[in-house]
Amino acid sequence: MKKLIKLTVNDREYEMAVEPNLSLTDLIRYELKLTGTKKGCETGDCGACTVILDGIPVNSCLVLAVQANGRKVETIEGLANEAGLHPVQDAFVEHGAIQCGFCSSGMILSAKHLLDKNPKPEESEIRASISGNLCRCTGYQKIIDAIKSV
Ligand code: FES
Ligand code: FES
Repeated sequence: MKKLIKLTVNDREYEMAVEPNLSLTDLIRYELKLTGTKKGCETGDCGACTVILDGIPVNSCLVLAVQANGRKVETIEGLANEAGLHPVQDAFVEHGAIQCGFCSSGMILSAKHLLDKNPKPEESEIRASISGNLCRCTGYQKIIDAIKSV
């Protein structure tokens, strides 16, 4: 039986009835049509589905939509504003840190979370912050250079 939940995604409030086994990834992608959040492994290994839940990056494939009831979610679509891309997004573009782009939403959200807490991180802290995000294209150095440059 569906359950009624309320949540805030990118500062917009939603109230919806969801199946108890619906993942937060599927809610975001298929109910809200915010397809910047990617589905890779669906087992918590790749980080492609990373979103920020109440200020903490999580693998949304491992979170049930009902567990997001009453909480705040930030997805990649919430980063840019009228002034343009978020500085982390700009840095990824400038440094060639995006190739196929499949990992980029998760990488950028993990990096944004780090930089919000720690604006001048050591390289080791950058590496730790994206350790849950796998990239199969860039070899990571350009991603690290991009985050360092913000
Ligand atoms: S799709 Fe969620 S961690 Fe891979
Ligand atoms: S840019 Fe392709 S997986 Fe990272």
